[in-house]
Amino acid sequence: MAEPEIENIKNILVVGAGAMGSQIGLVCAMAGYAVAVQDISSEMLEKAQKQLAGRMDRNVEKERMTRQEADEALARLTFTTDLEDAAKDADFVIEAAVEKLDIKRELFRKLDEITPDHTILATNSSTIESSRVADATDRPDRVCNMHFFNPALVMKCVEVVRNPGTSDATIEATVALTEKINKSPVLLNREIPGFVANRILHALANEAISLYENDVASFKDIDTACRTALGHPMGPFELMDLTGIDIAHDVRMVKYERSGDENDRPKRSIVERYERGDLGRKTGKGWYTYDEAGKRVSP
Ligand SMILES: NC(=O)c1ccc[n+]([C@@H]2O[C@H](COP(=O)([O-])OP(=O)(O)OC[C@H]3O[C@@H](n4cnc5c(N)ncnc54)[C@H](O)[C@@H]3O)[C@@H](O)[C@H]2O)c1
Repeated sequence: MAEPEIENIKNILVVGAGAMGSQIGLVCAMAGYAVAVQDISSEMLEKAQKQLAGRMDRNVEKERMTRQEADEALARLTFTTDLEDAAKDADFVIEAAVEKLDIKRELFRKLDEITPDHTILATNSSTIESSRVADATDRPDRVCNMHFFNPALVMKCVEVVRNPGTSDATIEATVALTEKINKSPVLLNREIPGFVANRILHALANEAISLYENDVASFKDIDTACRTALGHPMGPFELMDLTGIDIAHDVRMVKYERSGDENDRPKRSIVERYERGDLGRKTGKGWYTYDEAGKRVSP
């Protein structure tokens, strides 16, 4: 059996053409790799293809790249619903399909069957550690998490997470690939829910909510402190409105269900907004209120 090596990675398969998969595909194509983006939905593939072409047009307009560079990157990208055909010569797979364990396990079982022996199977999942899909394959040593951040075209960090069965060769090749696609690898030596960046983010958000619920300061002033004292681009309440209070609620519920620790439950002020349907920018109201154009109007 051939050990995975960075020099042998030429063709990349991205499974899932949603918010993450489409942009991850373009990131790899911009770095010179031949990339197939596969999805079960041809609608999603068409949408992804249009959006990525539009992104590249804007990059050319803003003189971030030449027309030729943009066209060459787009030419390295193919979009398909045919998983078997896309997988047969893939050297590296990044799975970015929906966040459902049974779907991911079935995908990993199938990918194990239809990809070459040396191929690394990585998952972009934010909450499913790779050991939970590795045991659906006969190559657990070639499975790990490769966790991009949203929007993948912009955010530099990629967390590479080793599971107890991941081989050194897999980790070395995945870290090297992360560098080749111009991202900053953060290596986790073992699996831990939330990985590194989101754990820190949640700890910060929980402290911010406690300060607010204990009437120490308004949420607006806590946001101001994070921006003006800590240099964060936005405060924790502003960020929750952007990503969705439903996500903040659900992530905490999943954590609570897994740990059984009452401290992990979503806090009162999150539950109240969640139950009222005040989910942030997408509903026009969360912590702050927004007009129809998405501009903040109060407080
Ligand atoms: N959205 C984020 O902020 C974010 C950030 C980091 C990681 N992630 C992870 O990325 C993954 C995808 O998230 P997303 O936000 O892009 O989701 P999304 O809902 O935008 O896209 C998911 C895509 O998967 C496709 N799909 C479903 N089943 C499939 C299958 N069997 N085979 C192929 N494609 C299939 C869907 O058609 C859809 O296009 C998840 O695992 C998530 O945890 C998301």
